[in-house]
Formats: sequence, C-alpha cells, structure tokens
Amino acid sequence: MAQILDSAGEVTPASMFLLIHHGLRRDAARYPAAVAALGPADGEAAAELAGSWAFYADMLDRHHRLEDDLIFPLLLAEEPALAGVLARLDAEHHELDVLLAEVARVLPALPEPGGVREGVALFTRLKDLLDAHLDTEEEHLVPVMNERSADGLRLGDRTPPPPPAEALPWIEDGLDPAVAERVFATLPEGLRARLPELRAEYRRRSTFLREHPR
Ligand SMILES: [Fe+2]
Ligand SMILES: [Fe+2]
Repeated sequence: MAQILDSAGEVTPASMFLLIHHGLRRDAARYPAAVAALGPADGEAAAELAGSWAFYADMLDRHHRLEDDLIFPLLLAEEPALAGVLARLDAEHHELDVLLAEVARVLPALPEPGGVREGVALFTRLKDLLDAHLDTEEEHLVPVMNERSADGLRLGDRTPPPPPAEALPWIEDGLDPAVAERVFATLPEGLRARLPELRAEYRRRSTFLREHPR
C-alpha cells in the first residue's frame, strides 16, 4: 500500500483517499474469515455482520462515486496517458457492483451452512478483486495525485466531501496511531470532540468482524 503521509510525515493530497483504501482492504480481508467462522447458532453474529456490511457497502459506493464523478475525470484531464488504466478501473467498479449485489442477496441466508459456503466464496472473490483494483489505483493514480496536485488537481470549489463522522473510527482501526492523529488533526474541532463516542459505537457494532481473522 502507498504511503499515507509523505516522507516528512505530512498529509498529502492522496492521504484521505489512501485512508479509505486502508479501511476497505482491512475489512475485505476480515469478511471471508468472519463468515467462515459462523456456526448455525450464530444468528446474532450474522446480524452484526449484515449491519457492518451495510456500512462497508456504503463506504465503497461513496468512494466509487467520488472516483467516477471527480477524481478519474480530473486525472484524465491532467494525464491523458492514464486513459487505458482509468477505463480498466471503471470496468472493475462495475464488476465490484455486481459482487456487492450478490453479497446483499446471500447475507439473509447466514448463518445457515449453505449461506456460509456461498458467502465465503463471494467475499473471497470480492477481496481478490478489490485488492488488485486498489493496487492499480495506488500504483498509477496516487503518484499523479501527489505530484501534479499542488493546486488540489484544480479542484477549485469541487473539494471532495469529507467522509461521514461514522467513518473516522472505521478508518483508524488497524492504522498506525501516529498517522491517524496527524490526519485527524486536520478535521474540524467539533468532529474530533465526537471521536470517543464514535469509537464506542464502532466497537459495539463490529465486534465479531474485528475478531477475524484472529
Ligand atoms: Fe476504485
Ligand atoms: Fe479507490
């Protein structure tokens, strides 16, 4: 994964983009293991996974829309040689959408053994596709975002919206605390003051998922 902060420990134009990738990768690795660990009597854990998945799918959807509507067009204007890579990434967004729909279909069948088998296979495909997709973005897009965006990729008024407050504890899970602290220092004071409450809520709704893989 690309560096979230630069070599001087400062926030870069790609820092928030990479933090979202961190959360997406981390949980994509957890879901196959968590679903595989469901026993037939784990109805409560299955309900928790369905709840945390709703949040995850929303984060992935928001990230894709930000890329499709803003980041990819700006990068294409900045670096036309990226056209081939951007077309492939766009196609992968559609492949991921298909997988998300399949996951939504199988979640109600958890924790039945048939649902668990299908769920593990689906979440594993999702992890593999997403890891490769994020690798491509980080290899080809992040250098351009960081090198050519002294003016924020000419974002002008189109500054990307900040992630929702509920995303903050999700982002920092598994992250070097010093990196989280540096990035969160850029957030509005009112939002940072809510972090303890947001963390407690995040821990409560992701207990089973966070335990996998153990
Ligand atoms: Fe993407
Ligand atoms: Fe991305």
